[in-house]
Amino acid sequence: MMKKMVYNWKSWWRSLHKNNYFVIKLCISILLVGLAIRLLHNRSSDFPPVSDIPLLQNAQISTPPVLSDQIIPQGYGLESIDNEGKCNLFTGDWIPSQDEPFYTNRSCNFIEEPQNCMKNGRSDTDYLYWRWKPRGCDLPRLDPNRFLDLMRNKSWALIGDSISRNHVQSFLCTLSTVEKAIEVYHDENYKSRRWIFPSYNFTVSVIWSPFLAEAAIFEDMNGVSSSEIELHLDVLDKNWTELYKDLDYMVFSSGKWFVKSAIYYENNNILGCHYCPKRNLTELGFNFAYRKVIRKVFDYIIASNHKGMIFYRTSTPDHFEDGEWFSGGSCKRKLPAKEGEFGLNELNKILRVIELEEFEKASVKASENGVNLKLFDVNPLSLLRPDGHPGPYRFFQPFAKDKNVKVINDCLHWCLPGPIDSWNDLMMEMVVNG
Ligand SMILES: *[C@@H]1O[C@H](CO)[C@@H](O)[C@H](O)[C@H]1NC(C)=O
Ligand SMILES: *[C@@H]1O[C@H](CO)[C@@H](O)[C@H](O)[C@H]1NC(C)=O
Ligand SMILES: *[C@@H]1O[C@H](CO)[C@@H](O)[C@H](O)[C@H]1NC(C)=O
Ligand SMILES: *[C@@H]1O[C@H](CO)[C@@H](O)[C@H](O)[C@H]1NC(C)=O
Ligand SMILES: *[C@@H]1O[C@H](CO)[C@@H](O)[C@H](O)[C@H]1NC(C)=O
Repeated sequence: MMKKMVYNWKSWWRSLHKNNYFVIKLCISILLVGLAIRLLHNRSSDFPPVSDIPLLQNAQISTPPVLSDQIIPQGYGLESIDNEGKCNLFTGDWIPSQDEPFYTNRSCNFIEEPQNCMKNGRSDTDYLYWRWKPRGCDLPRLDPNRFLDLMRNKSWALIGDSISRNHVQSFLCTLSTVEKAIEVYHDENYKSRRWIFPSYNFTVSVIWSPFLAEAAIFEDMNGVSSSEIELHLDVLDKNWTELYKDLDYMVFSSGKWFVKSAIYYENNNILGCHYCPKRNLTELGFNFAYRKVIRKVFDYIIASNHKGMIFYRTSTPDHFEDGEWFSGGSCKRKLPAKEGEFGLNELNKILRVIELEEFEKASVKASENGVNLKLFDVNPLSLLRPDGHPGPYRFFQPFAKDKNVKVINDCLHWCLPGPIDSWNDLMMEMVVNG
């Protein structure tokens, strides 16, 4: 059973202020400029100009690692078998596996450069040879032929932030071992895209909607923002609502973008904000906004009468060690962690508690309404994979010129191939066996 936790936002916020918050803030602005320059140098011309920095920038609140003995929902129900006698796919272990990944740094050109760890010079490969083993059952590997067969005339969409984009690359690479997907749409900045597997008439979209709600974002390509985000807590983002009824399968997710400075609106009126010291507005805390928006998304889904399958993917933790992303934090591990070795930090914990509480409420109403809403709880299994991030290898050959050069690590997104390839196995299992 999940313990209810009432989060005392204000006291947390105050303690941050005491703890050199402004020094940290200053460091960030300096580093962001440096980062922007780096990125411009590293951008290769044949690649969609999409930066992943906006997500990294979210770590602008320093959150101390928290040990796992805290009151925190680790798995959604720790039982291996749920009360309907079904295997809980998300309670399990990473076990060694001989299987080669479905694709390599060369065979799949859907891998975006910052996630192509091997090509970028990561030389260890042990992190590739693990598979997720639920305790109550076996999880078969996705069978791309069978999956595509099941998906004739169907459409999928992964909806969310850059972790969704990370996932779609893995999904496309895996399925493209049977037939290469062809891009049929992209927006100006290659953030929302759509592909088709022609002989299956199967479409896969990634829809950029980091808040899931309507938001005006004042950021340039490198994630440097010129003003607070204007987030409308009561209006869902048209980027996905307009496509919603035509999609057969959807995977929703959100999370870290909510930590950013934002002004919150409801009915077009300002309600307050999160981190807006220059404005005379009430600090509401990002947890307030996150809960409101998630609830709004679930209400929409519940009321929709949608006949497809809707996954709610939990947000994934980062694994910065010995610092945050802006203070030399890194992720140098080469193997999965042992259970309990990593706990969620304060920020990820706040997000997770809201996600699970709101899902729990929504899933009851969804099943009453005949809407097929499923929890895709990748958080606990991701927590065990500190070895799966690009770290310095988000950049091409970062140490080629100088072995000791200091680079900003990415311990948030995932190498491809890598641990999130198992997300596809989980999706197939949920599609096939409900
Ligand atoms: C990339 O993949 C190929 C196999 O396709 C492999 O031989 C090579 O070592 C990998 N790494 C790099 C850096 O290219
Ligand atoms: C896919 O759609 C086409 C055209 O509408 C139809 O002929 C075909 O039977 C459909 N296939 C499946 C598996 O639904
Ligand atoms: C492709 O699938 C869509 C449904 O998603 C269907 O309306 C369309 O007729 C199909 N096209 C072909 C060529 O089968
Ligand atoms: C919707 O998509 C467009 C194009 O990708 C993007 O610029 C915009 O920020 C998205 N809307 C929201 C609210 O995120
Ligand atoms: C801030 O807002 C409050 C209430 O809206 C108002 O009473 C106060 O005068 C404002 N302070 C400043 C410095 O504008």
